[in-house]
Amino acid sequence: MPSPFLIVAIDGGAAAGKSTTARALSARFHFLHIDTGSYYRALTAALLRLGVNASDSAGVERAVANIALGTVVDGRRASITIAGDTIPEAELRGPAVNAAVSHFAAIPAVRAALLAYQRDQARIAREHGFAGLVMEGRDIGTVIFPDADFRFFLHADPEERARRRAAEGQQDSIAERDRLDSSRKAAPLLCPPGATDIDSTFLSLEEVVARVSEPIAARLGAA
Ligand code: DC
Repeated sequence: MPSPFLIVAIDGGAAAGKSTTARALSARFHFLHIDTGSYYRALTAALLRLGVNASDSAGVERAVANIALGTVVDGRRASITIAGDTIPEAELRGPAVNAAVSHFAAIPAVRAALLAYQRDQARIAREHGFAGLVMEGRDIGTVIFPDADFRFFLHADPEERARRRAAEGQQDSIAERDRLDSSRKAAPLLCPPGATDIDSTFLSLEEVVARVSEPIAARLGAA
């Protein structure tokens, strides 16, 4: 029997180890890797370029309705395009986007614009011949793919996460973003009921990857 197309959801706060884990799964199982945080960052960068303020929700709604979203697949990773262009990594991870992204991500029109787009990534993964997709974010197991084959929730102590970001050479207000992401009304950051909850504070990334990979390998071995 052919292997099933698998959907893996990884949620968690900033610098909880989601990206490293998702990249490792994508390499091991030939899954398309989708970092939805970078999608919210790209939309935020586009809105900032247009001079739209997050406190002006009607203005955000109007602007978002006119932004054309597309996808490019580069290796095993999908990236979002805005009016046909990808936004440079330096801008996506820069201080202006870091400071604004959680405010824009709390606006229902922004989340609605990305909802169908994110679900459609499963079609793109299939069309490109991937064995599945691994999608990381804040609401993947709760809202985007509540029926995903596997749902994981990663967390770690704030000090350890700040240390990880600093080791990447990045300045990021992790605690403030987590507070905003967890307390918003629209799709707040929370562990999906029934998801596997992993505290990565005292685990190496290899150990996290091993824990997450185990049930997937078992499922594929049994397919
Ligand atoms: O994963 P990240 O730190 O790059 O995400 C940036 C922001 O995007 C995060 O602070 C909240 C928002 N986000 C979200 O609201 N929902 C997602 N699925 C992914 C990210």
